[in-house]
Amino acid sequence: MKKTIEEHADRFSEIAGQYDDSQNSDEYRACVSLVVEHAAPSADDTVLDLGTGTGAIALALAPDAKRVVGRDISEGMLDEARRKAEEEGLENVEFGEGSFREPNVEETEGEVDVVVSNFAMHHLSDEEKREAVEVVAGLDPRKFVLGDVMFFGTPDPDEPFYSPEVDDPSTVGHLADALTDNGFSLTAVERVHEQVGVLVAERAGG
Ligand SMILES: C[S@@+](CC[C@H](N)C(=O)[O-])C[C@H]1O[C@@H](n2cnc3c(N)ncnc32)[C@H](O)[C@@H]1O
Repeated sequence: MKKTIEEHADRFSEIAGQYDDSQNSDEYRACVSLVVEHAAPSADDTVLDLGTGTGAIALALAPDAKRVVGRDISEGMLDEARRKAEEEGLENVEFGEGSFREPNVEETEGEVDVVVSNFAMHHLSDEEKREAVEVVAGLDPRKFVLGDVMFFGTPDPDEPFYSPEVDDPSTVGHLADALTDNGFSLTAVERVHEQVGVLVAERAGG
């Protein structure tokens, strides 16, 4: 991680009010749509959204799920997410503090059916992403949908889709290895851009 958790949290809390308006790239929007489409929760499902931010994915999935739990390290982003949930009258979504390392979901009593994460895991180093996948696998979901900055080839250094000083994206190969090493099968790989994609991982044999 190129910044500490606290630095990332402060950075996002500072821009929380403008975050939604700033996310206007075609690639970000495509990723949101694909993560929502692949998550496809049923009415009995509990969904966990890690690095939920202002709740783009969590709020979109709430009408189809039994319950959605959004976790983030930035109180400012979480406040925005809660404000939007109230505005939209969504009562089955809950936002609170939690990280990839400690998602803080004990109250779901081991019943996380689907885990999603969009544009958040690239803040972690390769090793931390592997640890995060282990944590997700430990929750025993049937599906993990990961949308993020990820390298399908060698990224053009003159056109990074990310900020090298704060972001640390992995190759698709590294993410695929971490997922399959933790008992997932990759059931879809969506390439949105050479540096952006969505991976759908399901429990092998599940
Ligand atoms: C670019 S935003 C994406 C927010 C949202 N998922 C979306 O699609 O709009 C990244 C979010 O990841 C959160 N984040 C960064 N590091 C994190 C960590 N280690 N654990 C949980 N969330 C983290 C940030 O606070 C921020 O809200």
